[in-house]
Amino acid sequence: MNDLKTKYLSAIAAAADESALEELRVQAVGKKGEVSLKMRELGKMTPEERQVMGPQLNALKDEINSALAAKKVALADAALDIRLKEEWLDVTLPVRPQRQGSIHPVSQVWEECTAIFADMGFAVAEGPQVEQAWYNFDALNIPGHHPARAEMDTFYMHRAEGDDRPPHVLRTHTSPVQIRSMEKHGAPLRIICPGRVYRADYDQTHTPMFHQVEGLAIGKDISMANLKWVLEEFFSAYFGKKVKTRFRASHFPFTEPSAEVDIQCSWENGTVKVGEGDGWLEVLGSGMVHPKVLEAGGIDPKEWQGFAFGMGIDRIAMLKYGIPDLRAFFDSDLRWLRHYGFSALQVPTIRGGV
Ligand code: PHE
Repeated sequence: MNDLKTKYLSAIAAAADESALEELRVQAVGKKGEVSLKMRELGKMTPEERQVMGPQLNALKDEINSALAAKKVALADAALDIRLKEEWLDVTLPVRPQRQGSIHPVSQVWEECTAIFADMGFAVAEGPQVEQAWYNFDALNIPGHHPARAEMDTFYMHRAEGDDRPPHVLRTHTSPVQIRSMEKHGAPLRIICPGRVYRADYDQTHTPMFHQVEGLAIGKDISMANLKWVLEEFFSAYFGKKVKTRFRASHFPFTEPSAEVDIQCSWENGTVKVGEGDGWLEVLGSGMVHPKVLEAGGIDPKEWQGFAFGMGIDRIAMLKYGIPDLRAFFDSDLRWLRHYGFSALQVPTIRGGV
């Protein structure tokens, strides 16, 4: 009896896991276990022997059972301890830094333009990107047969079969907003309109969608001189240094006279630097608003006159931030966006230098 007790109690104490423990239980107190077999032998004993052996065997069985139960709990506790150690988390650790989105250079420059022109008293106007042909062309003195209409590589919207009205277009420039603003507010007027425009063209310097900012100032005696001052003031604020401009005679149906404007720059080893050197770079079209355009906008050209200009936002963004390829603006390449993007806190202001 003592041998059995030492054998099983020490084996239970040494059991490595629950299955070893179960094996021991079967061996000792299972139906055919050693202790159970001993209990069966009680039947063959004399009543006196049985009286002594019976309680002893029962006590042994109880002792083994409670040793098994205790060991089972101990094994479970140990397993839990190991798991708790392995799966331990420090919930007080600060989180890993998360990448934030950035402001696209076009959005940044859009805001910069708005800030500079707002400082000169220009309000921001908007118009639809899907535009009536009348606003995009006719009202701007570009009639149906005019070559400019073909030159613009226009995207036309679909019309239902049998619908003979001229199709809407994706606006090819921001100039239709001139007409919409004149209609809405009359004269005098001082607005800029930054926005998306569309032309069916794609190469290193052209994308089918790009951005322009339109400017329009109407008053009693507004002249080309005011236009030149406003543009030079703008470029100097935008590039943070004095930038000379050059006006070249040009032609647009909606302005008379018309001028293309170049800004001063230097070309060295293939890089452009604005505001120095004796090179020139074309950045916008401009002129005095054509009397017919004023009329189309409901403004009397005998009483009012003014200037208008249209400038490429992507173009001046590339120049200021040294971005070589226009197409990269619209590729949504995260590496590019991280490199050229701006933090949300870099809000453009006039005073701090734009
Ligand atoms: N709308 C012209 C263009 O897209 C630019 C322009 C605007 C020219 C206003 C003169 C006046 O090319």
